[in-house]
Amino acid sequence: MTPARTVMVTGGAGFIGANFVRYWSEHYPSDRIIVLDALTYAGNLANLESVSELQNYRFVHGNILDVAVIDELMLEEQVDTIVHFAAESHVDRSIHEPDAFIQTNVIGTNNLLMAARKHWIDSDSAPATHLFHHVSTDEVYGTLGPDDPAFTEQTLYAPNSPYAASKAASDHLVRSYHHTYGMQVTTSNCSNNYGPYQFPEKLIPLMIVNAVTGKPLPVYGDGSNIRDWLYVEDHCRGIDLVMNKGRRGATYNIGGNNEWRNIDIVNQLCKSIDAAVAADDRLAGQFPDAPAASGKKTGSLIAFVKDRLGHDWRYAIDATLAETELGYKPLEDFESGFQLTLTWMLNNEAWWRAVMDGSYRNWISKNYSADD
Ligand code: NAD
Ligand code: TYD
Repeated sequence: MTPARTVMVTGGAGFIGANFVRYWSEHYPSDRIIVLDALTYAGNLANLESVSELQNYRFVHGNILDVAVIDELMLEEQVDTIVHFAAESHVDRSIHEPDAFIQTNVIGTNNLLMAARKHWIDSDSAPATHLFHHVSTDEVYGTLGPDDPAFTEQTLYAPNSPYAASKAASDHLVRSYHHTYGMQVTTSNCSNNYGPYQFPEKLIPLMIVNAVTGKPLPVYGDGSNIRDWLYVEDHCRGIDLVMNKGRRGATYNIGGNNEWRNIDIVNQLCKSIDAAVAADDRLAGQFPDAPAASGKKTGSLIAFVKDRLGHDWRYAIDATLAETELGYKPLEDFESGFQLTLTWMLNNEAWWRAVMDGSYRNWISKNYSADD
């Protein structure tokens, strides 16, 4: 059995981070979990409500750009494991405001690595073992044509958006700390995640929210772009395997074996919402602006809009290494994962209304001052 660890989860109030904290607290209840999160627009304490009372859990409102905060926390809590999710994560935002991506994703990652080096490698009271796990993306590999093989860990980096470039830079930094200082690191590069608690700026939750509130469903370009969809809990299991069984210094691709064209996802989503509303009268009352509430097709909301600048056409992950070395296998296919996500979104209207209408943001600014 693994001895209890003290795990600092950066970005743990975001979509994947919060799902990971819940997953980890259930699977490793003896481990202490410290979430370090700046609560940007994408961070939300409501995502962590179910773990907030656990004895082995602490939330720290802090920024990975603040070296002193990281340093203090590493020392005070004797952190021996870092799982690094904190990032600016939305490609569209990176096209409009790349600077925040360089700050958090590159400088912030280096700040964490510097602190880890100080406490784990250069210190006389370093813990017996340590691990820095870095969560990255398939977008570092660039884009694929229709017949190209899926990305492997050997695919050359060719990031195309400022987001992807900033994540690529952070991956290289993590690798270099292993090679240069002997830091124990692992990296996972995963495909597009979806599931509960995803901020409704990303394709799937945005389309669900717009569909049930009667707003247009904006499909970029002709909708032929392909993504490889990974249910968030499968991603968490993949990270668990990499952290516990992965070779130190290695990178593993984590995917869902679920390549879908955007337009097919949106069409599928429209059909599922039509079916859900037809099967449950209460939904028509709950979402009166949804076309399905008045017997119309949700698909009538689909609007093809101007394409994203530099829009990567296809991503696909080859997860053979994780499968053969670690026994990784996604449990959800897209149909089952999507149904879980849709049901969660329909049952959690208050959550998405709060994050979208700004009331949650107002609550944060009222309850958290800068030096909390
Ligand atoms: P998210 O945007 O939902 O959450 C990011 C979290 O990081 C938020 O809680 C935010 O408050 C926090 N944060 C941002 N800047 C910070 C800073 N300077 N200091 C401290 N905290 C900060 O992101 P996500 O979708 O959960 O993604 C998590 C990680 O997974 C990211 O590193 C992302 O690159 C990677 N990833 C995501 C996907 C995906 O489909 N969502 C796919 C591949 C990889
Ligand atoms: P997104 O969820 O932003 O993830 P990423 O850019 O990291 O892949 O987008 C997924 C795909 O959906 C991508 O091809 C862009 C497309 N898309 C739309 O067509 N309309 C939208 O409103 C959004 C947010 C995305």
